[in-house]
Amino acid sequence: MNPSEPKPNQGPFSKDFRDEFLRLLKARRSIRKFKADPVPRETLERILHAAIEAPSGKNRQNWRFYILTGEKRDAYLALSQKSWLGIKNILQKRLKPSLYEFTERFFYTLGNAPVMILCYSLNDDEEKYLTSVGSVYMAVENLNLAAVAEGLGCCTMGAPLEIKKDVDEFLGVTSLPEYQEGKLELLCGVALGWPDHDPPKAPRQIEQRFHWL
Ligand SMILES: Cc1cc2nc3c(=O)[nH]c(=O)nc-3n(C[C@H](O)[C@H](O)[C@H](O)COP(=O)(O)O)c2cc1C
Repeated sequence: MNPSEPKPNQGPFSKDFRDEFLRLLKARRSIRKFKADPVPRETLERILHAAIEAPSGKNRQNWRFYILTGEKRDAYLALSQKSWLGIKNILQKRLKPSLYEFTERFFYTLGNAPVMILCYSLNDDEEKYLTSVGSVYMAVENLNLAAVAEGLGCCTMGAPLEIKKDVDEFLGVTSLPEYQEGKLELLCGVALGWPDHDPPKAPRQIEQRFHWL
């Protein structure tokens, strides 16, 4: 290499690692059909610990995760079905019939996902509301990527927000002082398990997405 040329920035990771990392990002897709096999507790622990490596506003680490497996996950299905009722009319207009039916089945069964994780934010006056919410979503994306790295799949879901109060009561968070003070808020759910389909990656659009100044 010509010594007058700037050295490429090496960073701590190899080119192979960077390529693999990009492959991981591209491999993540929303999975809505799962094998019934359970996910070992140690695997779930690894994913959750990867999630909390995320940055957070003022380092408040304001995420709170509620992990449903076994009977509690089964009991959650009734709520998932209720959340469908709030969304179905909008989706019926937007989706073609086959996709509408697939989505309805997903809400009724969670695609057989053996794990459902409900993700909350603890909001308070020390941080802007949107910063608190964004911090939790940073952790949720970490969780998604860590799941893919383990060979698992997941689907982040805003649908539980249709039945926020029911979910809060189902989890029992309503008795917590932080909930009663209006600080603890459900943001999304993540259905998680071993993938049982291979959906195409939704194409990414770049028009109007980047504005270089
Ligand atoms: C905040 C958020 C909420 C979402 N809510 C739902 C949902 O309720 N139900 C669902 O089936 N997918 C849901 N998704 C998944 C999106 O539909 C999906 O990410 C999008 O179509 C792009 O596809 P991909 O994840 O395969 O790249 C949600 C995704 C995000 C980030």
